[in-house]
Amino acid sequence: MPFANLHIVDHPLVSDKLAVLRSRTTPPALFRRLVHELTWLVAIEATRGLPTAPVTVDTGLATFETRALARPPAIVSILRAGLGMAEPLQELIPDAVQGHIGLYRDEATLRPVRYYQNLPDLTGRRVLLVDPMLATAGSSADAADILNEAGVPDADIGLLVLIAAPEGVALLAERHPGVAITAAALDDRLDENGYIVPGLGDAGDRYFGTL
Ligand code: PRP
Ligand code: URA
Repeated sequence: MPFANLHIVDHPLVSDKLAVLRSRTTPPALFRRLVHELTWLVAIEATRGLPTAPVTVDTGLATFETRALARPPAIVSILRAGLGMAEPLQELIPDAVQGHIGLYRDEATLRPVRYYQNLPDLTGRRVLLVDPMLATAGSSADAADILNEAGVPDADIGLLVLIAAPEGVALLAERHPGVAITAAALDDRLDENGYIVPGLGDAGDRYFGTL
């Protein structure tokens, strides 16, 4: 099912790592390593449109005209599980600034509940919003609302996820049509408890070993 707001990173390394990530027998240490590596692979596609500016480099042999990142982007993680993607992104973009949005999904209503917010000055920055799971999209849509309130338009927000559900991609397209999603996989559906199927279970619990 094609979605105009979704780009799937279709690559053998992504499939290989996702297969291990999804397995219920994968322990937290390996799970964390794979979240790290998958984030790098998703980030390559998700950062393709970052603005660059001309720079001149003296290599010792010649001066060389090339391009470097313009104003570094902001990495904003949706707590908790987004933290696992923020770290590898920060390694790729050392000058990026970080912000945090604390949300948890109410188990009965599946609605996001806000509990923490700490955003840097986002003026003129692209925002890379990270959360491994896009299920109902309640959390990411609420995080995008918060970023809009902080002055960041949808066009400057890119959402990086590992696994997306069709229901969530559709809801985000409705509420934030300008937010581009880059994902490692698009799964089949949500179950009656709002879990992604086949998915991987609760990403935060698996990452932090709190099962
Ligand atoms: C998970 C996940 C997303 C959210 C996705 O977080 O990391 O933030 O659920 O679901 P949604 O698309 O239906 O909103 P959770 O609420 O379990 O919190 P946690 O990361 O602290 O475990
Ligand atoms: N949050 C998760 O961590 N996993 C899901 O499948 C859905 C929401």
